[in-house]
Amino acid sequence: MIELRNIIKTYETKGQKVEALKEFSFNFKKGEITGIIGYSGAGKSTLLRCINLLEIPSSGEVLINGVELNSLTQKELREKRKKIGMIFQHFNLMKSRTVYKNIAYPLKGSGLSKVEIDKRINELLELVGLKDKKNSYPSQLSGGQKQRVGIARALANKPDIILCDEATSALDPETTVSILKLLKKINKELGVTIVLITHQMNVIKEICDSLIVMKDGFVKEEGDIIDIFSNPKEAITKKFLSSVFNNDKIYNYLENVAIKTNEKVIKLAYVGNAAEEAYISKISRNFNVDASILFGNIEIIKETAIGNLVVKFKGLEENILNSIHYLSQNNIYTEVLKDGRKTI
Ligand SMILES: Nc1ncnc2c1ncn2[C@@H]1O[C@H](COP(=O)(O)OP(=O)(O)OP(=O)(O)O)[C@@H](O)[C@H]1O
Ligand SMILES: [Mg+2]
Repeated sequence: MIELRNIIKTYETKGQKVEALKEFSFNFKKGEITGIIGYSGAGKSTLLRCINLLEIPSSGEVLINGVELNSLTQKELREKRKKIGMIFQHFNLMKSRTVYKNIAYPLKGSGLSKVEIDKRINELLELVGLKDKKNSYPSQLSGGQKQRVGIARALANKPDIILCDEATSALDPETTVSILKLLKKINKELGVTIVLITHQMNVIKEICDSLIVMKDGFVKEEGDIIDIFSNPKEAITKKFLSSVFNNDKIYNYLENVAIKTNEKVIKLAYVGNAAEEAYISKISRNFNVDASILFGNIEIIKETAIGNLVVKFKGLEENILNSIHYLSQNNIYTEVLKDGRKTI
């Protein structure tokens, strides 16, 4: 759908060079919501702007549905861009125009009649839930309502793709969820492919199908959202995920937890139906190990449970080791966080 091949983008200001993108390659799948996360300066916005050539890559190719954008004439590129909507953090609405006129703006020169434009705008107002606000001005709207106008405007030309740059960063958590739900609805019902930049794993978790973790202009890690949430490989990915799973706080807390020689603190992580089996009680019964849960966190991501538990095992060394082995055999990730035998 959107194919980026070896994109390099170098900015030059006052003789200083900044390589914002370094050989960035990725294939965004049709109909998916792909999230891009990374620290400030990683090159996320640059990347997004390269997708519709608002930013011209220094080298590399951008292909949309197999067509290389660089090969298009200005007129063809303008047409292509109409099929790529954009949504911004600060909404970028025109203050002196009503909601209706803001949404109408991209339909200028579309060849549609006044009646057709009116019909289209009313459909969009209905879709984003702003029918009663069509004659309001942006200053009379809340942040969430402004972003709904931004979304309606982005959808005006029936795009195949929507690019969102920090679309929810200026919104409170509740409004964020409602905007993410709207984006998901647009993705599902209209089949729009969405590329979404954010700093927050919580946003990714809510709606993305796949994820790119960016660092210094590169793809550091990428993959299916469930794979990354259940088995992150890179340190930066783990760092982003620790905000979801509270890992840092747990590790700090554990430092001060005293354990006895016949105890171990174990982290257990599992995906999907491993949650339904009563493994903890089986361990107690079969291996004569006492298991007490210190922390538990279960996230439901794309209807799949991803669990992270921190459990204290108490019993004979051999029994504890057998329990760990048994869990591993049942596809439960195990990691000894603290070992009573090693603290003496
Ligand atoms: N127009 C520009 N001229 C010069 N340098 C730029 C320009 N735009 C971006 N950069 C530089 O390119 C790098 C990547 O910037 P970019 O805005 O893509 O990062 P980002 O990941 O979107 O960051 P943030 O999360 O803060 O929005 C930064 O070092 C930035 O200073
Ligand atoms: Mg940015």
